[in-house]
Parts: sequence; C-alpha cells; structure tokens
Amino acid sequence: PWSGARAARIIAEHTHLEGATLPILHALQETFGYVDNEAIPLIADALNLSKAEVHGCITFYHDFRAKPAGRHVVKLCRAEACQAVGADALHAEVLRRLEVDWHGTTRDGAVTVEPVFCLGLCACGPAALIDGEPVARLDADGLQAALTEVAA
Ligand code: FES
Repeated sequence: PWSGARAARIIAEHTHLEGATLPILHALQETFGYVDNEAIPLIADALNLSKAEVHGCITFYHDFRAKPAGRHVVKLCRAEACQAVGADALHAEVLRRLEVDWHGTTRDGAVTVEPVFCLGLCACGPAALIDGEPVARLDADGLQAALTEVAA
C-alpha cells in the first residue's frame, strides 16, 4: 500500500539526479504499483517545481498510473499495423465486454486495460500483452478465454 513516509524517502534518494522527476516517478511506480496524488506536492517541493509541472509529467507519460492496477494488466496495441487488421473494432468490443474505458479497471479489480503503441508484433496483429506476455492475432473471444485462464 501507499506510504507517504516511504515515498518521501524514495524522493529524497533521487533529488540529486539531473532531471530527477522521471526517475522518481519510475521508482514510486515500481515500489507502489502507481503514483498516488499525494506524491505530487512532495515531488514539487523537493525539486522546486510547481504541482502543475509534476502533474503534467505524470499524465504525459502513459506508463504512470494514478491508481493501483487490477490483478491483471492487458495492454492492447493501438498502432497502425494493428489498426489495419481491425484493432479498433476489437478494442471497442473488449472495452464493452469488460465495461471499462482505456486505463480503467474492471469493477471486480481483476483487469486493467491500457493502450500501447507497437509491440513489434506488427505482422501478426492485433497484438496485445497479457501480464507482460505477448499475444498475437487477438480476438475478443480469445482474450476472454485468456483472462479466464490467468484469473483461475
Ligand atoms: Fe501493433 Fe506493431 S503495430 S504490434
């Protein structure tokens, strides 16, 4: 769970770095799985930045989460080659079935869905990562089956 004291220690360990904002955000996300809003004023104070600057940095990089992720993370490739083989329609169907939007987590906390831009599997799209494992030629039923399997 999030700990302000622990976050403050992590921030203090990185403030000497040039461009410390990103290393700090990565370290926080690695430790807690997300970057709690509580970190924003701490980072701003430590680095002499405005809270808006820190917030802007968090939202600019899609890697950072503002809330803990679900137990499983599905990353769906939205880049061109996958789009050309129907990724958009597939994604709409997947989001509909899971009742989430991009970056959302299902109500039972099981699955978080995030966009990703090219996984190097362009020849066999639509591509995705399920808990970091690449999946090629994804379809909505295949994803549902895969999620049932990882959740079991
Ligand atoms: Fe989807 Fe490259 S475009 S894997």
